[in-house]
Amino acid sequence: MRISVIGCGYLGAVHAVCMADIGHDVVGLDVDDLRVASLAAGVAPFHEPGLPEMLSRNVAAGRLRFTTDATLIADADLHFIAVGTPQLEGQLGADMRYVSAALDTVLAHAEDRPADRPAVVVGKSTVPVGTAQALAERIAADGNNLILAWNPEFLREGYAVDDTLHPDRIVYGLPVDIPAGTAARKLLDECYAPQVAAGTPVVVANYATAELVKVAANSFLATKISFINSMAELCDATGGDVTRLAEAIGYDDRIGAKFLQAGIGFGGGCLPKDIRAFMARAQELGVDEALTFLREVDAINLRRRHHAVQLAESAVGGSLEGRNIAVLGITFKPDTDDLRDSPALDIADQLLGRGAHVVVVDPAAGAELRRRRPDLDVADTVTEAVTGADVVMVLTPWKEYVELDPAALLSLVATPTIIDGRNVLDPHRWHDAGWNYHGMGRGVST
Ligand code: UGA
Repeated sequence: MRISVIGCGYLGAVHAVCMADIGHDVVGLDVDDLRVASLAAGVAPFHEPGLPEMLSRNVAAGRLRFTTDATLIADADLHFIAVGTPQLEGQLGADMRYVSAALDTVLAHAEDRPADRPAVVVGKSTVPVGTAQALAERIAADGNNLILAWNPEFLREGYAVDDTLHPDRIVYGLPVDIPAGTAARKLLDECYAPQVAAGTPVVVANYATAELVKVAANSFLATKISFINSMAELCDATGGDVTRLAEAIGYDDRIGAKFLQAGIGFGGGCLPKDIRAFMARAQELGVDEALTFLREVDAINLRRRHHAVQLAESAVGGSLEGRNIAVLGITFKPDTDDLRDSPALDIADQLLGRGAHVVVVDPAAGAELRRRRPDLDVADTVTEAVTGADVVMVLTPWKEYVELDPAALLSLVATPTIIDGRNVLDPHRWHDAGWNYHGMGRGVST
């Protein structure tokens, strides 16, 4: 099939590469020259395990092109819209201007097709519910032979290739008009033929449901994380250990063990902005009460960052002024170089704001951080970062930090205090090696 992907950011680039790997003929379109040049040269512009090999292989095979020239999307059977919907500056809602511009591009450049061979515009971006209906009306008013479908994406950074090629489920939001819906489904099934053949559940729904599935899933995940973080607060107040608590409740398969890792909370380009945009949309719809709990989810999450700073403060006996703090891991989670809404970066900023001298080290984001934040001291190695530290904070659970040898670091630091912002270290191992260990909701510190 011929496929266009409009928007080659994280979601779009991964989708384009995976669709080419399935065997489709794919054109990725973006307005960013540098990004397009990098992708066209077979070089991934961000860190994602498995992507570079697949990108260069498919570009070399001629199945995958990247361009800024919108005329090249003309003959696509499916036009995927994968542009960003970032949080509006100073507001809770999402900025929809890129989605709107992407549809303008498709309407301006998609070829006229015969009645028996429609093309499908497939929305993948995370949007406020109601967007698809409005876009469908614009398409209908344009009078071409295009059908709109909504096909949300559930990939996680760090696992993006595998999540795209082996999804838990596929969701199609289709028009209620039955012939158009049937035609769109046929093309989507053809596009996802390997996944459909592998038995991936396909959930077919109307536009609003498909849009809601995406934000409902992210809201549920965010709620699960804030739930366990609220239990961490209770554990800190009572001497309980939230990691044991999570293990115990997680054995109940109605609850499930995943996404119960307490710590400094969630960040990234999706969960925080999605729950805020969902609340904003609920307010517009006059049903804000239905989502007031998400306000609490957000508040618990932000409180975790503050709590980590307070832990550092009390570990040094009151004031952080002039204290050396080593921050290990700055991305919002491991196996990505993404710094969007990173809890670790926020904590580093709060420490700086209290007069601490902060040295940051990260396996993937060091260079980008140096470029963006010349005020931060960025080290190349853990040894460099922790030398002379009054407090060491593990804020992103990269494998190499989880596996650190406490005995080897002991002689480098000024004071052997470790704050485990993700509860990934073994408290007894660190304690036995001579460290003061502080977890997040693991009861009494050792
Ligand atoms: C999230 C969803 O998991 C994906 O399903 C969704 O497709 C994606 O957003 C999106 O909307 O595009 P992602 O942002 O890559 O994916 O990150 P997650 O793996 O969900 O982690 C989000 C944050 O929660 C990270 O900061 C992580 O450290 C934190 N987290 C996760 C916890 O604090 N505790 C946990 O138990 C799990």
